[in-house]
Amino acid sequence: MLDTSAENQRRHDLHPDQPVWLFGYGSLIYKADFPFLARRPASIDGWARRFWQGSHDHRGTPDHPGRVVTLIRAPGNRCAGMAYQVTPDVFQHLDHREKNGYLRVTTRLTFSDGQQQAGLIYLATPDNAAFLGEASEEHIARHIAASHGPSGSNTEYLLQLAEALRQLNVGDEHVFRIEHYLLASAG
Ligand code: BEZ
Repeated sequence: MLDTSAENQRRHDLHPDQPVWLFGYGSLIYKADFPFLARRPASIDGWARRFWQGSHDHRGTPDHPGRVVTLIRAPGNRCAGMAYQVTPDVFQHLDHREKNGYLRVTTRLTFSDGQQQAGLIYLATPDNAAFLGEASEEHIARHIAASHGPSGSNTEYLLQLAEALRQLNVGDEHVFRIEHYLLASAG
């Protein structure tokens, strides 16, 4: 199975005593299973959240991957989420958790007060073997409804993300339309 954890450990030479900001736009928003020094709502410019990445190890299986979020370049768009200030040792755990195609990439975060900082995101690009790519939001909803993996149902992932975005007062039409189609088909 695809495993990007070694590449992530190799490409980032972080000083152990130097905290870094990590921007979460998916399950990191609602599942912070790691210690952090601070947590602040934040956004990144020029990116959009999309259910275009396959999940072989959490919300699906290698034979039937689920669909989870990644980011795509979207000039003029702002993607909102949650930033965590962490010590670099947490990446051992997170690189393992997000090993199915995600690489850590540096980008600029904007906090709600307008302050900016460099930070890291986990990004799954179209050239990774688990990438599924674009599909209609109706199709994505049907795919999610039919997918399950070791971390639970893909539906649970979608609904938790949508709820976490609402709690943050974040509008995301892509996520909310998929949620709408999924709930409508569930009757
Ligand atoms: C996130 O919440 O930012 C995230 C979670 C899993 C994989 C990639 C990103």
